Amino acid sequence: TTVEWEAESYDMGGHDTYMHKEISEQADAVDRVLRGRIDDRFATVHLGGLNLDAREARGVRRVKILGCGSAYHAGQIGAQMIEELARIPADAEPASEFRYRNAVVDPETLYIAVSQSGETYDTLAAVQELKRKGARVLGVVNVVGSAIARETDGGVYVHAGPEVCVVSTKCFTNTAVAFALLALHLGRIRDLSVADGKRIIAGLRKLPGQIEEILANEDRIAELAAEYADAKSMMFVGRVRGYPVAREASLKLKEVSYVHAEAYPASELKHGPLALIEPAVPTVAIVPDDDLLEKNRATLEEIKARSGRILAVAHQEQEKADHTLLVPRNEVELDPILMGIPLQLLAYHSALALGRDIDKPRNLAKSVTVE
Ligand code: AGP
Repeated sequence: TTVEWEAESYDMGGHDTYMHKEISEQADAVDRVLRGRIDDRFATVHLGGLNLDAREARGVRRVKILGCGSAYHAGQIGAQMIEELARIPADAEPASEFRYRNAVVDPETLYIAVSQSGETYDTLAAVQELKRKGARVLGVVNVVGSAIARETDGGVYVHAGPEVCVVSTKCFTNTAVAFALLALHLGRIRDLSVADGKRIIAGLRKLPGQIEEILANEDRIAELAAEYADAKSMMFVGRVRGYPVAREASLKLKEVSYVHAEAYPASELKHGPLALIEPAVPTVAIVPDDDLLEKNRATLEEIKARSGRILAVAHQEQEKADHTLLVPRNEVELDPILMGIPLQLLAYHSALALGRDIDKPRNLAKSVTVE
């Protein structure tokens, strides 16, 4: 049966590229990562392979998340979710940096390695170094039985299904959802209330339908991609929850369209990058309806005042933006999961407009198994 499943999933399914196929599959993929894991009675989730009992989970004093590229960005989203829902200090770092800096390995820190392929050499080397020093390392991995899945003490499978395109899309989204599950689980063992647990569960259940809504807007996103295809460079900005979304969107655009892009926390623009703003350098701004909405609107004004063009990804029309891509509202903690999806399509359509080799961008490999 494994063979049949693989043969079927490697079929293009009527799409011209794997990237498009994989973007389009995200509602089903998210459904899969949720399936069988939600426990309504205790407003939590069951993560069968975690291998971390409640007493151990309560003893965790810090969480350190390691991954490369998109996996690292999903880890940044995960770190914020763990801080918000479980109130455990958490951060993410590129595994490729961590492994070379003789980091202090602390017994009360829970380490989490993130990887689609489970074979990325830098991430695997970081795991091996941590294990050698006696740390507990979990994996948030897509490929079942991969090297990182085998080397870690337990973890959460992402269940995105096979991802063929070099550019990660559905696995990124599913990894962010897997982190939401982990954060909810850790939160409910610690101080997250039943009411908040239920609120997050209701939000998670809404995701697949909301992803379909976003994907239904593809024609408009394609028009906008054509409109911005003349950009010399693109600036991506967001604050707090929006910042890893901006970083991932910037990476997507670079990888697949070869358009130069930079991501900055919106709050940092005034410390230098504002100098780059001009009509040929448009900004994509992540503007959720959260407690930073007014701050983000002020950023849009600053960019407009320097004649920058703005494409906002937001929950409501943004007056200062030239264009707004609307994303459905969910619980604020889950905003990063949905806000990146229209920007995957923006990268895809920009690459299409520029005639790029979408599934195999130049100079890149799907898994980087060398140093
Ligand atoms: C994503 O679009 C990339 N091609 C790349 O950054 C990738 O996420 C990274 O190499 C890590 O791969 P992994 O998830 O298989 O470990």
